[in-house]
Amino acid sequence: MKPRLGILLSGRGSNFEAIAQNVLSGNLDCEIGFVFSNKPNAPGLARAREFGLPCGSIPSAGIERTLFDSQVADLLIDHGVNWVCLAGYMRFLSGQFVSQFSNRILNIHPSLLPAFPGLDAQYQALTHGVKITGCTVHFVNEDLDSGPILLQSAVPVLDNDTVESLSARILVEEHRIYSEAIAWMLRGNYRIEGRRVIQT
Ligand code: GAR
Repeated sequence: MKPRLGILLSGRGSNFEAIAQNVLSGNLDCEIGFVFSNKPNAPGLARAREFGLPCGSIPSAGIERTLFDSQVADLLIDHGVNWVCLAGYMRFLSGQFVSQFSNRILNIHPSLLPAFPGLDAQYQALTHGVKITGCTVHFVNEDLDSGPILLQSAVPVLDNDTVESLSARILVEEHRIYSEAIAWMLRGNYRIEGRRVIQT
């Protein structure tokens, strides 16, 4: 049976769509088992419906984090999901969820971590004045944007960049390296040594 990805998103879903295109074209040898959003109106969820993928949403308002995450985990497990990809999922995951999918959750972040974790990473890079930023795919642990790193790609910051222009160039790299990292993870030829992900 092919590996089954669960994709978690909160908004636009362009990273989800790039992954979905690679699954459909056979570049990624896996299935998308479920697409979940904490936002019922997320455009990414509408795209998942158009792709005919199993998808759904649980609004998070008023639900305690651990309880909410256990409902999400149940939904994923019911759909046979064994790998989780966060694709613009703007929620901090509970420790319980992380340990349920231990070392099987990936996230994409629009900076060269450990620089500029958290929200508005492109704005942070621009206002800090760095000359190079980029994106990072990393395993998810219990701390924010800080698990072992699989892949990174550097993007130069230009003098005339705005948050929008910089974000757009980073996004091109996000779409490329996320599927590359998923393919690597699914091949399984790596080991995690401390914070380092080493090719085997
Ligand atoms: C992407 O730039 C992703 O790296 C970022 O949200 C955007 C989602 O775009 N994620 C984070 O900042 C996580 N800390 P998308 O919905 O079009 O994939």
